[in-house]
Amino acid sequence: MRNASPASIDIVKATAPALEKHGVAITTAMYARLFENAEVAAMFDRAAQDSGEQPRRLAAAILAYARNIDRLGNLGPAVQRMVARHVETGVKAEHYPLVAAALLPAIRDVLGEDIATDAVLAAWGEAYWMLADILIAAEQDAYREAANA
Ligand code: HEM
Repeated sequence: MRNASPASIDIVKATAPALEKHGVAITTAMYARLFENAEVAAMFDRAAQDSGEQPRRLAAAILAYARNIDRLGNLGPAVQRMVARHVETGVKAEHYPLVAAALLPAIRDVLGEDIATDAVLAAWGEAYWMLADILIAAEQDAYREAANA
């Protein structure tokens, strides 16, 4: 697993309130970028039909979980739920860079480059990949188990 550096963890925690305050705007900007990819948009169309809800929880969760980046061990049941949902909707490791490439520019779009400096975006990138690595590993296990069942 890629660990975020202590300096990045400090930056993430210091900037998390600003990101969460603008969470809806960041989420909206992120999905606009992400859904330019038709394959990814189709995964969410299917999910929205299943859940009857806009999949807004994803971006909100990234912001919220990143804030608790130094206590990720506490996430147990939440991770299981995300993994289950991701496996149902066919999320694979190769999709994670697409979300990172949508989320980080969205943060800059909304907060501007004075607040979302290169250092801030780099720190959020590290936090994202730390979470992503936990999910990717658990999802690979789940796909493998399903294949062996
Ligand atoms: C660190 C990265 C990610 C985090 C923290 C995250 C988090 C979440 C959370 C919390 C949910 C809602 C689970 C529930 O309670 O039902 C969710 C659902 C979902 N995620 Fe992720 N996710 C991440 C990456 C991705 C990626 C890379 C994709 C694929 C493009 C993806 C696609 C989805 C889809 C399709 C759903 C279902 C939405 C719905 O039920 O309406 N996620 N994710």
